[in-house]
Amino acid sequence: MRSETAPAIRLEDYRPPAYRIDKVHLNVLLEPAATKVTATLSFARAASTEEGTPLVLDGDELTLTGLKLNGEDLPQTAYAATPDRLEIQNPPAAPFELTIETEINPDTNTKLMGLFRSSRTFCTQCEAEGFRRITYFLDRPDVLAVYTTRIEASKAECPVLLGNGNLVETGTVDGTDRHYALWHDPHPKPAYLFALVAGDLAQVPDRFTTASGKEVALNIYVEHGKETLCAWAMDSLKRSMRWDEEVFGREYDLDVFNIVAVSDFNMGAMENKGLNIFNDKYVLADPETATDQDYANIEAVIAHEYFHNWTGNRITCRDWFQLCLKEGLTVFRDQEFSADMRSRPVKRIADVSLLKSHQFPEDAGPLAHPVRPRLYHEINNFYTATVYEKGAEVVRMLKTLLGGEEFRAGLDLYFQRHDGEATTIEAFLACFEDAAGIDLSQFALWYDQAGTPVVTVKTHHDPERQTFCVSLSQEIPPVPGQKSSKPAVIPLRFGLLGPNGEDMEITAPAEGARIAGDVIVLEKAQQEVTFRNIPSAPVLSLLRDFSAPVRLDHKLTLEELQFQAAQDSDPFNRWQAVQTLAMQDLVRLAGLIRKGQPGVPSEDVIRVFGSVLSDMSLDAQLKAQALTLPSEADIAQEIGKNVDPDAVHAARRLLRQAVSRQHGDAFLAVVTGLSGDGAYSPNAAAAGKRALSNRALYYYAATGSPDAAELVWERFSAADNMTDRLAALTLLVHDHMPRETEALDRYKARHETNSLAMDKWFMVQATAPGEETLAKVRALMSQPLYDAGNPNRVRALLQSFATGNPTQFARADGAGFELIAESILEIDKRNPQVASRLLTSFRSWRALDPQRSALAESALLRVSSCEDLSRDSRDIVDRTLQ
Ligand code: PHE
Ligand code: ZN
Repeated sequence: MRSETAPAIRLEDYRPPAYRIDKVHLNVLLEPAATKVTATLSFARAASTEEGTPLVLDGDELTLTGLKLNGEDLPQTAYAATPDRLEIQNPPAAPFELTIETEINPDTNTKLMGLFRSSRTFCTQCEAEGFRRITYFLDRPDVLAVYTTRIEASKAECPVLLGNGNLVETGTVDGTDRHYALWHDPHPKPAYLFALVAGDLAQVPDRFTTASGKEVALNIYVEHGKETLCAWAMDSLKRSMRWDEEVFGREYDLDVFNIVAVSDFNMGAMENKGLNIFNDKYVLADPETATDQDYANIEAVIAHEYFHNWTGNRITCRDWFQLCLKEGLTVFRDQEFSADMRSRPVKRIADVSLLKSHQFPEDAGPLAHPVRPRLYHEINNFYTATVYEKGAEVVRMLKTLLGGEEFRAGLDLYFQRHDGEATTIEAFLACFEDAAGIDLSQFALWYDQAGTPVVTVKTHHDPERQTFCVSLSQEIPPVPGQKSSKPAVIPLRFGLLGPNGEDMEITAPAEGARIAGDVIVLEKAQQEVTFRNIPSAPVLSLLRDFSAPVRLDHKLTLEELQFQAAQDSDPFNRWQAVQTLAMQDLVRLAGLIRKGQPGVPSEDVIRVFGSVLSDMSLDAQLKAQALTLPSEADIAQEIGKNVDPDAVHAARRLLRQAVSRQHGDAFLAVVTGLSGDGAYSPNAAAAGKRALSNRALYYYAATGSPDAAELVWERFSAADNMTDRLAALTLLVHDHMPRETEALDRYKARHETNSLAMDKWFMVQATAPGEETLAKVRALMSQPLYDAGNPNRVRALLQSFATGNPTQFARADGAGFELIAESILEIDKRNPQVASRLLTSFRSWRALDPQRSALAESALLRVSSCEDLSRDSRDIVDRTLQ
């Protein structure tokens, strides 16, 4: 029989806990294969709980080795224990203490949840439900306790012992080779924020003085020899701490802030109180091994985890349905931080591209769910683009609707009112309602409705009456479990572009909608807004700065789009206009190619690319973004159904070549003009120049001339930083240039001992278009440097194949799907979270042409028929097939 789907957990079934845990004392005796954990827990019955109500604690693969109640052994008849549950049948009416002894095996913990080892270092991961793999507990975010942790280990094996909070005491254990450390965290926290680390790690110390003059010791712990790779992360941390004080008035609250980098980690990083644990890819960087994108990611993730200290830790979630309360808000905060550290428009464009390429397809497919889901089978599957990225967009809209000051006042109230609590979206919104004196009940729909609203726009100018009418309507297309929807509150930032390209001044109040400054607030299913005193027809620039996570159906003419691409004062909409022009042509070309007809790229689009390239007013990074063609996945999404990835690929190639043919010399001039000026700096200006010169190289390479191939090779061999080296390597491999193999071998020889750099080597090969890639990927899986147990390696090779190589994953012979299905089944036995994440790469299978979608379905059925699939993968495969 196939494995059962786990029971559904529903938001409406939420009940407060029957018992509280006020204090936790843990004694952890670390041994690789048999760690002993003694947990002393102080319980109190909730006022509303009847006396004698059984106490039910969560466990997961636990072995109980001892149990005491108020210091006395409990008779076997008084409790029931299984690996995933401990029930105390008739607990005392008055507060009591349980002492629970469990034994766990970190070495066989391949799920990387609970206590595990990563290259010999002991570390933990408890979000969402990992603490129950360490001891029996009320493992839910609304049980907040004060933790004291004693960590004991061999001094030689684990000279470094780290816990949450502040260090209280250290010592040696008489007559043994062992030592211990005692940590105390004064801030009550849920179990998911618990962490410990023990190992032989190098310490990179620094310090920070808070705004109020408190000294904080900062440390980053890494494997020996990697100390020099932490400078950027440390710098990012200090800037984050300062920024959170300046922008949100939030200070740090412990004597020490520790970060540990580990190489085996399911996610990006984890915000454990005072002891953040990071995937090493978001800590380690130097110009030789990290790209500009890596630097930007490190800065963002360090900030994200640090910002959680207030949004997540001091104020946490009442239940896991409220995940976006901490994640959406914290993503919004880290996006704003990066915008302030770099270029605001560049950051906005990058964030929106990510939203459109990850969240939009999620919201349009079988895995669609509201920002605050109402039901889940496995919470690990809800760390999604919708909860994170769309969740951040919802917070951003709140700021747009309220304005900066009232938004800040609402957040201040939130910090003041809920500090130390586990709370809800309702409570969060109430703070803004109270601070700004407004009603957010309709706005709250953004948390409850899945799917991306489509906003349809029609305009009409009447020269006689000098009116400009904008008809707006909104609708969410049906998504699983949601046939109809209610109108949302949609802030539409706008401008009316006059003939000279400047924003027209709006002299008379517009009618038909609430307009606040440059924002039209769409609140009904349909609204018509009329502007008066508009003598000549303007071009409506709508959804500036992407002020709402919606799809715009606004049919601008070619001339209007070209005008916007050249003139819009909003950099986001300039970028968007270029993208729309390119997208329209790519969809058209793909359609022609599909029908076997010759496709000829539009001269107008090619001309727009030339103008962007020669526009001296554009910043380099913005220019590089505007010159980036929509990805194959983006084009497929736009086509929507009956997609042929080969036609999409061919269309994109065609347009790239046409642009290249027309502007080849100009691109060459950019490549050579921007090359090699001075020492490497990861800052935004320098990164922008590299991005533009590599974008130009990408087009120049498409001329296909021997000179181009020579130049790419030259750039590859001469590169003094990873950004340039990887850009050239990608061209050599993806365009199958003559020295492709030689380049891959050289790269390997250079970076063999650095797994993060080798991940890029795997990724470049996995995303190469062309028939031969499948066999390559299979061969790479048996490469000694590949490790199916390491999540970063799996993501670099298999995830990037499945999500970044549409023609090969969705091969017409089904072999791409088979490879991924087969791998999922293998990985699932070891690490369900990594497997279920890989499984989400099938989410758009129904949009493929009939032959391909049938093959995808049979691959999914193969996964589904597995008898002992994990709960994580079962959940995803069931929903994907439904
Ligand atoms: N809470 C982490 C973050 O977003 C992500 C995470 C979730 C990490 C679950 C591990 C496990 O910062
Ligand atoms: Zn987070």
